[in-house]
Amino acid sequence: MAGLSTKELQSALRSCPSLHSAGTFSTRAFDGIARHASKRRIRCSAETGSGATTLLMSHLSEHHWVFALDDGNGSVANVKQSSLLRADHVEFVEGPTQCTLPRFHFTEKLQFALIDGPHAYPFPDLEYYYLYPHLELDSLLVIDDIHIRSVQNLFRFLCSDRMFRLEEVIGSTAIFSRTAAPVFDPHGDGWWLQGYNRKLLSRYTWKETVRNLLPGRMRRLASHYRYHWGRGRRRWQIVITSPGDREMAGGAGEVTRGHGICRSAGAFPPLGSCAA
Ligand SMILES: C[S@@+](CC[C@H](N)C(=O)[O-])C[C@H]1O[C@@H](n2cnc3c(N)ncnc32)[C@H](O)[C@@H]1O
Repeated sequence: MAGLSTKELQSALRSCPSLHSAGTFSTRAFDGIARHASKRRIRCSAETGSGATTLLMSHLSEHHWVFALDDGNGSVANVKQSSLLRADHVEFVEGPTQCTLPRFHFTEKLQFALIDGPHAYPFPDLEYYYLYPHLELDSLLVIDDIHIRSVQNLFRFLCSDRMFRLEEVIGSTAIFSRTAAPVFDPHGDGWWLQGYNRKLLSRYTWKETVRNLLPGRMRRLASHYRYHWGRGRRRWQIVITSPGDREMAGGAGEVTRGHGICRSAGAFPPLGSCAA
């Protein structure tokens, strides 16, 4: 592992729980990232959020961008002060990623990206949007905290997207690698081309599906009967006009006006056409 001995890594792992108060990485996930990342040459990498993973990446990457906001939790300040940080390998872009990422201009392709900044919806998706076009073939994309619904949503999307292959899930951390599929156009649409959108939600489309399953003649017959049955129902409707809804019965169900006289309006079927 470039620049980081096993001893140093263990030391970094031990410092995780006390490094900051914004929720740190599990040691198993930390180890998993190190295992996958050390198989590749990482010239450029990016991470949202900061913490022990920043210390780790400072040893694994030749140039690591960190998009983070300290917000008083120590996640940036403590990392900057840590003796485990290889500071000359790391560039901090401080501020909310909602503002810093859209303005940032990546000049190099990334071999590694970690999404672990703000977790509220839609921020993980937003970060993904600004990072995915820069991921190189066979690069790693790690997303943390997939037990949170907003992150789980992104996790599911990635699992069904052809640009990514799920390498491993360690606790609530997912590690993907970038396949050779072309970059999905970040400025167009084409939602139907994405694996995540391939199957529509049947609770909204089942009627159309059933209709399309019927042969043409049956479909025409069904719509003929539906039309005439609907018309018939409308024509034979009776509307009670007096007494009104609220006049008819009070809270306890007593008649308050009308005393049994009921006026109505409506159209009736011709005599003899209506079953009893
Ligand atoms: C879960 S922690 C990251 C943990 C880190 N990966 C580690 O190994 O310890 C989340 C990080 O995102 C930062 N953060 C929260 N909201 C942010 C925002 N809007 N923009 C950038 N960073 C934010 C927090 O300050 C913290 O550094």
